Amino acid sequence: MIASECEPWAKTGGLGDVVDALARALGRAAAVDAVGVDGPVDVFLPRYRSIDLPGEGVDERHVRVPDPVSPDGATDAVVRSFAADGYRLRLVDIPAAFDRDGYYGTGAVDHPDNGWRFAMLCRTALETIRQEGQPIDVVHVHDWQGAPAVLYRDAWYWGDFTLGRTAFVLTIHNPAFHGWTHAPDVWTLGLPGGFGDAYGVDLLRTAVERADVVNTVSPTFAREALTTEMGKGLEGVLAARGDRFVGILNGIDTAAWDPATDAALAASYDAADISGKAACRRALLAEIGFDPDDPGPVLGVVGRLDPQKGFDLVAGASRALIADGMRIVALGTGDRLLLADLAVIATRSPTSLSVNDRFDRDLARRIYAGADLFLMPSRFEPCGQSQMIAMRYGTPPVVRKTGGLADTVIDADADPGHGTGWAFEETSASALASAVGRAAEMFRAPDHAAWDAVVARGMAQDWSWQAGPTDGYLRAYTRAVASRR
Ligand code: GLC
Repeated sequence: MIASECEPWAKTGGLGDVVDALARALGRAAAVDAVGVDGPVDVFLPRYRSIDLPGEGVDERHVRVPDPVSPDGATDAVVRSFAADGYRLRLVDIPAAFDRDGYYGTGAVDHPDNGWRFAMLCRTALETIRQEGQPIDVVHVHDWQGAPAVLYRDAWYWGDFTLGRTAFVLTIHNPAFHGWTHAPDVWTLGLPGGFGDAYGVDLLRTAVERADVVNTVSPTFAREALTTEMGKGLEGVLAARGDRFVGILNGIDTAAWDPATDAALAASYDAADISGKAACRRALLAEIGFDPDDPGPVLGVVGRLDPQKGFDLVAGASRALIADGMRIVALGTGDRLLLADLAVIATRSPTSLSVNDRFDRDLARRIYAGADLFLMPSRFEPCGQSQMIAMRYGTPPVVRKTGGLADTVIDADADPGHGTGWAFEETSASALASAVGRAAEMFRAPDHAAWDAVVARGMAQDWSWQAGPTDGYLRAYTRAVASRR
């Protein structure tokens, strides 16, 4: 795999969790052998400034990588490899590209040379494979940062012994970012003529056209991505791939996300005995300075601060929700401006709205466990994992019915026998508020049986990678290998 994030070394969102958990799930030799694709799994990741190397067991390989930006046409990269949990992590160490602040930029401003930086990640991965001389079955690239690898395969490695017959699978986690490289910068990518047009190169789009199999991370989003509203300009090229473009629902790492063993929580609990959740709720409310015994619904929100995630809808709905006796705990990282409205409301209602604009893994876990409801009003959501984690932690999600949210959450009013949360269609604060209102009505009912059943059904879902997603990828690999050969 080639990716720009991999938990726990580098993560801004779900991509990092997915790359780590999928690599580990694929690395389980039995499953891999079953379809005739040999392990092990390697993950190539930039060696960002923030990544510390382990004290021992690090293998160093020096690779000379073609680099049009370097005065002598090549750069000496060091690939530092070591055993991770179930796979081999291979850090691409190129200080000029990665030894700086921010994976993608600082604040809201992207690094101007991102095209070159991630092109160097990909080119180094391919040069490493070529140097090692072992033919590779599948190179699986993630998002636009892995996309250049597909272009390089066709440009420079199609006749190569190790890579010429390799199948390339592209996973689109977020179609909003294409890695658009403007014409004046295209030379930095080191591509021959014929890629892109007079305006530049759209790396993601070009990889969609050339990968052997392309997927996104849920069946519903795979359909939505074919529309102009949701396709982010990729709808045409995705449609042209026909049945080579598929949706594979992500899993979550159910060992890493487990209220029975989660060390960040005040108390542990599971589906058989959920009583510890009340202690988690009290501890969370005390931690953020709220009244620990207030019985009103507590709404949790955790996510990247990106318009995609709909934090503004939470802000829009928050006055009505607070007036109705609810409390909101928000945790977000990214562009702080997106939290500005919420922060203003929080200063007026300090005992009802808590806004935490920082990266805090443990607080996120305490919100999943301590809230009564979890809000995810995303504008678009290729998959989303917070809703699955929330269900696993006994916290029914309220989601907009889109992408992976539509595939994972069943509305408890629409389908009382199967409901695991609440879902609404319209992208508006009032639609969010009314769905939360429906949930709160069940939460507050004197007879708790209906509510308890929603919680129990959510906790009983199996979102593990082994339950289905891993097989989905193995099928995609097998198919890509067959078609490439
Ligand atoms: C991106 C998507 C999100 C998905 C994640 C992992 O962050 O926005 O929906 O869950 O990638 O695939």
